[in-house]
Formats: sequence, structure tokens, C-alpha cells
Amino acid sequence: MKNILAAVLTIAVTVSAMAESVERKIIRIATDNTDLVFEVGPNKRLYQTYLGKKLNNPEDFKNLSWNQYAGSDGSVSTRGWEAYSTSGNEDFFEPALGITHSDGNMTTYLYYVDSSEENVPGGTHTRIRLRDDKYPVNVTLNYVAYTKENVIKTWSEISHQVKKPITMSQYASAMLYFNEPSYWLTEFSSDWAKEAQMNVQELKFGKKVIDTKLGSRAAMLTHPFFEIGLNGPAKEHSGEVLMGTLGWTGNFRFTFEVDNVGNLRVIPGINPYASNYELKANDVFTTPEFIFTLSYDGTNQGSRNLHDWARRYQLKDGMKGRLTLLNNWENTAFDFDQEVLAELMKEAKHLGVDMFLLDDGWFGNKYPRKDDHAGLGDWEVTHDKLPGGIPALVDAAKEADVKFGIWIEPEMVNPKSELYEKHPEWVIEQPNRDTYYYRNQLVLDMSNPKVQDHVFGVVDDILKENPDVAYFKWDCNSPITNIYSPYAKDKQGQLYVDHVKGIYNVLKRIKEKYPDVPMMLCSGGGARCDYEALKYFTEFWCSDNTDPIERIFIQWGFSQFFPAKAMAAHVTSWNKNTTLKFRTDVAAMCKLGFDIGLQELSAEELEFAQQAVANWKRLEPAIMDGDQYRLVSPYDGNHAAVEYLDKSKTMGVLFAYDIAPRFREKLSRVKLQGLDGKQKYLVKEINLMPGDASTFPQNGKVFTGDYLMKVGLDVFGYEHNVSRVIEIIAQ
Ligand code: DGJ
Repeated sequence: MKNILAAVLTIAVTVSAMAESVERKIIRIATDNTDLVFEVGPNKRLYQTYLGKKLNNPEDFKNLSWNQYAGSDGSVSTRGWEAYSTSGNEDFFEPALGITHSDGNMTTYLYYVDSSEENVPGGTHTRIRLRDDKYPVNVTLNYVAYTKENVIKTWSEISHQVKKPITMSQYASAMLYFNEPSYWLTEFSSDWAKEAQMNVQELKFGKKVIDTKLGSRAAMLTHPFFEIGLNGPAKEHSGEVLMGTLGWTGNFRFTFEVDNVGNLRVIPGINPYASNYELKANDVFTTPEFIFTLSYDGTNQGSRNLHDWARRYQLKDGMKGRLTLLNNWENTAFDFDQEVLAELMKEAKHLGVDMFLLDDGWFGNKYPRKDDHAGLGDWEVTHDKLPGGIPALVDAAKEADVKFGIWIEPEMVNPKSELYEKHPEWVIEQPNRDTYYYRNQLVLDMSNPKVQDHVFGVVDDILKENPDVAYFKWDCNSPITNIYSPYAKDKQGQLYVDHVKGIYNVLKRIKEKYPDVPMMLCSGGGARCDYEALKYFTEFWCSDNTDPIERIFIQWGFSQFFPAKAMAAHVTSWNKNTTLKFRTDVAAMCKLGFDIGLQELSAEELEFAQQAVANWKRLEPAIMDGDQYRLVSPYDGNHAAVEYLDKSKTMGVLFAYDIAPRFREKLSRVKLQGLDGKQKYLVKEINLMPGDASTFPQNGKVFTGDYLMKVGLDVFGYEHNVSRVIEIIAQ
């Protein structure tokens, strides 16, 4: 009897477990170290049930509950973490999606339809389809989990089949939720020559918004990335941290909201400011990609996750080499002619770099570009300045045996230009108000397909005439001012968004036609630095500020999200109180270039610079393609140190800086990271001025990797503005 009862009970339990597993739809987005889990709730809506360290036991998934974090008192237990929360629902906090339907109804409820998985390079792409049951609105949530890099890329697609358009007032890329004791935001504010400044603050109840409304030079005042330290401010080498970035070259917004029960929601997306977007039936609105990693060992590991991911899967030519160069902007500004440039090309060769890059000031005839007041838009060589045109410059570069690259700013126009005279209707400008100029220029309306053709033509014309032009520096110096598009007519709400989509249309065409031409993304310094643009650009210009002290901080900030390969840095004459060596050593931590007249240099300095270029090229596998370890933060005191190690752990380099040490302050040894503990390494100071002997105490000695990681090296000293570069060579 007992046995029969037990059997009946077992069957009952099994049947109910089966029923539960049939009913419960759990979707897992997994990398090697992280799980993001969703579950369809009893109401058929989709909820995030987990985001964190990988769960090792499959049976634990059923213990996650769609409303487990709703509130400890149970009073709000019908509220879960809706995966893509919508306006008008019972959540009462910031939604991801806000729609006004054609009948004026402002509510949307999304119900689970189905989900699918597909293998893609580096990982798995999961698509989850949702649909409103009262209005035919569809949302597809996309997640690509990059297994080895522990990076997840997510975006949403919104469409509908209502006859009349719907108006979207919010259209975030994604939503993520956390339940931790505290949340600490690191934001990256910026300005011209002051990029990527890191500031930390605790997030308490309510909303913190980081956004930009600049339109084109969009990331001038803040960059599209952030870090959230979970349970304490983000640290370099320990602790859990979310690192997220939005691939969008226009207005973006990050909303961080701590709700009534202490949960944090993170909502990244396009800034809907002045952008109520009308969506026609069957058009698909694809949001920008939000890319994030969760590191359980601090930002250092998180950055390496992002660096590897970017080089392998996102950055243009991420696995290919880069060109070192000599630029002329800081040296000549607008004041050059053909002879001057031909000389500079010879200097580039003499220095040992691969390319000469001609900057602003080569174009315009009716309104020659003598300064920044005229000429933008007229992309024809100034004949009396450069009578042989670009072909003569390409020839001169060939003769000097260097490649030739050229600066453009094709999305812009000076009112003093033939383009403006011919096509005032191509310009973003208020018809009935006073015009506000930023750097004496205006922004072309990239939402207009004719303007897109013109901008594509700038690159296309140069390359058709000069197939040997090897590189472009694409600048963008103005935010959108006087927002009004003659092309958009009564759809002005589309402009900020369609302008950026127009830029991408052009960049796609360029990449398709000229896949092998590298380009630098520049925006009056580093005001464009996002992973959508970097699908088309091989690198970005971090800042016009090339004072090496400031650059240590700026590069430290950008390196949180970008590999050194994507970051261009030039040696210039900013801050002549620092030595050429110091300036060169700082620039050598990124993609190295020079923007300085060689006649400014002494014979020793020139010899030093030539040697530094050769050293950089030898160390490229570590600096460009290896692992970066930020060891000593300039934010923490008077020194800084960064190590690069190639993937085989046989070649590395340590850059160490004394910025402003105090009198007899305590100097700590720098412990290296990532080495092979058993391997022996020679440590040798390089980038020394000719004739200078190394004062590095361990110079020329051999140590095990274990020793270098546990005991470290004495690379710091007491003098101000001193740099040391130590090569690490496996024996
Ligand atoms: C701004 C850029 O950041 C500089 O490097 C230079 O190209 C100037 N524009 C040219 O106008």
C-alpha cells in the first residue's frame, strides 16, 4: 500500500514538474562567465530573472523567479523586471518604449511570441519576438553573446502593421536590471581638449541621466559609455562592474534609475529629446547597439574583454595593422604650399613613419580655406596654393616613399562657400530665426539623400582621381545648431535620428566601394568615439590636447572601452615643459603619430624619435594586438603605469610616468600582470635619449614572470614629468 502511494506521489510530482517545465519558458543568454536570463511570466510577458556570474547548475534556473526582486513586503509582487518595459503598464518607473498609437492611446503591452538562436562569429545571436495583443506592434529583442570575450551586444527592432503611423517618444536599445547593495556610476564627461574625464558618484533613489543634445559633434560634452560598480565604486583589479557603451554617433541617453525597492535599471538608447519619431506601417526601426560586459575582477578585465571583442568583431580592420604617420596640423596649420608639403613628406620618411597626412586648408577657390571662416563644402584643391592638385601630392609622397593621407570634413559647410550659395536647402538652419554659428560653420542635412550623395562624392571623387590616396581623416567640428531641416518638412522630429542614419548610409557606401582604405574618426578632438562609427573607421582621434600630462588621463579614460589600436595619439609641441621623450612615450601607448616640425628638434631628439618609431613598430604585437594592463592610475596619485603584453606572453612593454611626485613620498614597486610565471624575462629600458644611460635599477636583468608579478620593478622616481619605457623580453 505504502509503495503504491509512493509511486502515485512520484508520478504526481513528475507530472507537475513536467507541466511546470512545459509552462515555464526560460531564455538564457550565456557567455563563458556571465548569464543573462529571461522568463516568460504567467501573464505571458517577458521578464529578466538574472544577470550575473554564470550559473553552473542547470537545475538552478527554475529557482529564478520572474518577480523575485519585486519587493520584500510583497505589496508589489505583481511587478517583475520586464525585459523591455513599456509606457502605460503597471511598472510606474522609466520604460524602454513609449508609443502613441494612431488613435491617441499611449499604452503598449508586449507579450512573448517566440524566440530563436543562431550561431554567429564569436557567439550566439538570440532573437526574442514580442507583440502587443491589442495593437499590431512588434518588438524583437536581439542579444549576441560573445562567448570567450564575455561581451553581450543588444539592440531592438520595432515595427507595426497599423495603417496610420505610430509616434514613438522613447525607443531604448535595451534594459538591464540589478539588485545589489549599492550602485556607483563612473561617467566620462568631456569638452574640447578635456575628453574622457572620469567621475564617480553613488546612485541613490531616483534617476540619473547622462545625455547629449549636440546632434553631430555629439559626444563633445559626454561620451557614450559608463561603468557601474556593483556594491562599491568600480575598481581596476577587483569587484563586480558593468561596463556599457552605445554605438550611436548622435544624441544618446543613459538613464539609471533606482526604484522604490532599491533595484537599479539601466536604460541605454538614442536620446528621444526633440525626437518624437513617426514610424510607418511595416518600416522597421532598428535601435543602436548597446554593448556591455560584466567583469568580476574590476575594470581592467572588463576593458580587456571589450578590447578583444572590438578587434575581433567590431572595429574596422580590427585584426589588421595600422599606419604610423606625420600630420601637419599642429606644425603648419593653414599655412603651407606644395613645396612645404613635399618637404614634410621627406621628413616623414626620415622619421621612419609610414605616411604623411595632410590636414585642413587644402581646398576652396572662390572662398579659399585660409582659416576656419570659409571654404568648407568646396572640396576642390586651392589652385594657387597647390597647383598640381592632389595628383602632385600623391606623386611627391611616392617620391619620398611614404603613403599619402588627407583630411576632410564632408558633413559641414561654411556659409562662405560655393556649396552654400548653390544649395542653401541642404543645410540645417532655421528659416525664420537668427543663425547661430559654431566655428563659423553649419551642418549639412544628412537625412536628405541628395546630401548623402554629395558627402559620398567627396571621398569618391578624391579616390577616383587618386586611387593611391591611402587614408582619410574625417573631421566634424560643429554640433547641430539652428535645428531645422527643409527636407524633413513637417517631420522635424525625425531629424536628429535620420541625420545619423544618413551618415551611416554614406559610411556603408564608402566601406563597400573602398573596403581597404583606413580612416580616422575625428571630431574637434574626441567628440566622436562610439562603436557604430568604428565599424567604418580604423581609429579615432582622442583629443586635440596633446599635452602629455593631460593625455595620460585622457588615454586612461578612453582605454576603459577602446583598444590602443583604435586610439590615435600624436607627438606635438603642446607643453614644451615636457621633453620630447616624455611626449613620445605617452603617444606610443596608442596608435603612434607625429605632428611636429622636425626642424624644431635637436639632432639628439630626432635620433631619439627615429629610434622610438622603430621600437614602437617592433612592439606593435603587444601595444596594438596584445593585452593591456592598467597598473597604476594617474587618478590615484602622482604616477601612472600601463603594461602591454602580446598574446603569446613573450613580448611586453611597461610605460611608467612620474607626473608630480611629492618630496620623498613613498614610491611603490610596480607589479606586472599576465606574464607566464615560469617564463624568464629580460627587462630592458628603451626609448632613452642618445647618450643617456639608464637609471632603471633592474635594467638588463632577468627575472621569472612570477617574480615580476609578485615583487615588481622600481620604475618610479621623484622628478616631475619623467617617463620610463621598459621592454619585457621572454628568454
Ligand atoms: C579639429 C581636429 O581635431 C584637428 O586635429 C584638426 O584637424 C582641425 N580640426 C582642423 O581644422
